[in-house]
Amino acid sequence: MKKLLTFVLALMMIFSMTACTKPNGGDEVKTYKVGVAIYRYNDNFMTLYREEIKNYFKSLETDKVKYELSFVDGKDSMDEQSNQIDTFIAQKMDVIILNLVQTSSAEVLIDKIVAADIPLVLINREPLGDDGDESYEGILNNPKVCYVGADARQSGTYQGEIVLALEDKGDINGDGVVNYIMIMGDVENVDAQYRTEYSIKALVDAGVKVNCLYQDTAIWDQTKGQELVANALAQFGDQIEVVFCNNDGMALGAAQALRDAGRTVGVDVYLLGVDALDECQEMVKEGTMTGTVLNDHIGQSHTAVDVAIKLLNGEAIENYYWVDYVKVDKAYFN
Ligand code: BGC
Repeated sequence: MKKLLTFVLALMMIFSMTACTKPNGGDEVKTYKVGVAIYRYNDNFMTLYREEIKNYFKSLETDKVKYELSFVDGKDSMDEQSNQIDTFIAQKMDVIILNLVQTSSAEVLIDKIVAADIPLVLINREPLGDDGDESYEGILNNPKVCYVGADARQSGTYQGEIVLALEDKGDINGDGVVNYIMIMGDVENVDAQYRTEYSIKALVDAGVKVNCLYQDTAIWDQTKGQELVANALAQFGDQIEVVFCNNDGMALGAAQALRDAGRTVGVDVYLLGVDALDECQEMVKEGTMTGTVLNDHIGQSHTAVDVAIKLLNGEAIENYYWVDYVKVDKAYFN
């Protein structure tokens, strides 16, 4: 009887071993569950970023390591995103990549994820610390939490420098003042705040006099950008010399509004964006846009994925990872 039991047990062991090994005798296949929460799918830049996260993860799969990716659309609603994070926690994700809807609500979400002991990679929207202290405690104090992004000040400065490199430095009518309008992204994001501030700072630091005719938020959106620029044109017409947009989506809307008003970029107005969407790179090449700044979604998404994998492997990580912006004006293509 004892022998029979040993025999059955041995058989069961062999069976369970073969069940989880591959037929070719390789090791067990490890599948990691990755939750990716995006603030809003309907965003030109984040769409590219999201696609690249997917493609890059897939390219890193091997016979032995697979990534099961769950992407969710926050639809620009904090409640929606908070529920999605609860679901990720309930599903026991191995790592979460999070593009916050609201950086001011970072703490609540980070706390939940940390309490569930799930490693976290924040992307694209940087939560800032209190009192102008830029390092966010919720990131610094957690060895399994990090932020991957680009320094928005650099993108603003580059926009300003593109204008400074123009022969008239943006002063088309030669009256000694650059009259501009500023189309902002979501004002809650540092990207919108810093781009607005540093583009103008670059001009002022170089001794250029500036005058803001109009400033409003189009929340990163093309249609809204077109509307605002049409409003500004109706109000200020030919006085407008430079149109600064915090991103290319809004710059595409601005380009349409400028065309509708019979204005010609490079002749009687300048137009600046950020992101370097393919369409905008073409426009810069042909001169229908003055310049943009490459927001490197490839570099950022690859860094985010690489660091997520480090976390999956239990390796130590940094709290902050920065990817450079690149100035894109006509000279960039020469
Ligand atoms: C991009 C914008 C995008 C925003 C979303 C920014 O870095 O430049 O195009 O809408 O991120 O948070």
